Amino acid sequence: MTTQLAPDPRPVDALPTHPPWQSTVVIDMDPTYISTAANDRAVRRWLYATMLSVLVVLLVGGVTRLTESGLSITVWKPITGVLPPLSEAGWQEAFAQYQQIPEAQTVHAGITLAKFKNLYFWEWAHRLVARLVGLVIAIPFFFLLLKGRIRPSLRLRLANLPILVALQGVMGWYMVQSGLSDRTSVSQYRLVAHLSLAVIIYVVAAWTAFRLHPSGESDAVAIDHTHPSGGAIALSILVFVVILTGGFVAGIDAGLVYNTFPLMGGSVVPPTYGDLAPAWRNWFENPAAVQFHHRTLALITLGIALWLAWRRRSALTDTSARRAWQWVQWTAVLQVALGVATLLMHVPIPVAALHQFGAVALLTAALYAAARDTTPVASA
Ligand code: HEM
Repeated sequence: MTTQLAPDPRPVDALPTHPPWQSTVVIDMDPTYISTAANDRAVRRWLYATMLSVLVVLLVGGVTRLTESGLSITVWKPITGVLPPLSEAGWQEAFAQYQQIPEAQTVHAGITLAKFKNLYFWEWAHRLVARLVGLVIAIPFFFLLLKGRIRPSLRLRLANLPILVALQGVMGWYMVQSGLSDRTSVSQYRLVAHLSLAVIIYVVAAWTAFRLHPSGESDAVAIDHTHPSGGAIALSILVFVVILTGGFVAGIDAGLVYNTFPLMGGSVVPPTYGDLAPAWRNWFENPAAVQFHHRTLALITLGIALWLAWRRRSALTDTSARRAWQWVQWTAVLQVALGVATLLMHVPIPVAALHQFGAVALLTAALYAAARDTTPVASA
């Protein structure tokens, strides 16, 4: 959307005053709003903090899943759950509750209290960091909103962040619940829903932060003033889809079968590809098919990323846009290499966690390229 700056309707002596470092005053959609570089900077810093905190919770969540710790806390206590059990009796109670669930009797059969405490630590840390993310998102949002420092055109979009993070807490518990009665692990569908919501929160923050940049020309030029690169947007969407398919690989431990590359079981399409009926179930429940889709889509994504980066870099003169495409190129190569390493090494925790980090790095690079490789909107 092009924002045309209308002349200020107020008499000059009625215009709001502002500190000297806020050198430019422009009007957003709300005539009482004073758009300044300082306001945009404050919002951007909050969004960067949001991105960082979501990244940390994603990594801790990944390790929680990889250590099979996610079901160790069988209750949901949003407030009092901040503290782990503090007495021997408290630990015994939590341990006894855990021993009731199918996972404790199968995957962790014969588990000792000491081992249980280790599992408990990761799930507790994941929930604690998730609460901190909620605070990092909600407190600055309401502060900046009440102080009138968020551009009116962004208020509705950014109001989604505290709502989505609250929803993510509920979603997390909904996922854990799926592993407490019949199954020995959580539902892969709920795991992917939980992962995608985290990524969506990250994308809202990242995209807004990257597009909200003071231009060299004027503070007035801030958001929606240019068309982002369509190729980079398409690439970001593709990376998001690959992330979803990666969630299914992780959710059904499909990284523990066919640990070879590039062939699977001696052929391009694995021999057990279509074993389940009806056919659609293979997409989400058959480890061979789920892994095949993930690696194939990932390789297509790598090809598109390298092709776009090569094309755009030779066409562009702007250094920051060229650098953004360079990031896309390297993160894509690194991420595919990490994926192959994760597979060939039978999913060791540090490598798999790095692979998860790489997914966010590639998505960030693609979004950054979309925000930097822009074309001006033709003026009306
Ligand atoms: C564009 C490139 C790629 C992206 C964005 C990507 C993304 C992801 C994500 C988000 C996960 C889920 C991590 C988790 O929830 O813990 C995952 C898992 C996995 N990916 Fe990829 N991936 C890519 C390429 C590859 C490639 C090329 C391979 C192998 C040939 C691969 C193999 C795996 C394996 C084995 C897992 C399961 C690891 C686990 O159980 O934690 N990935 N991937």
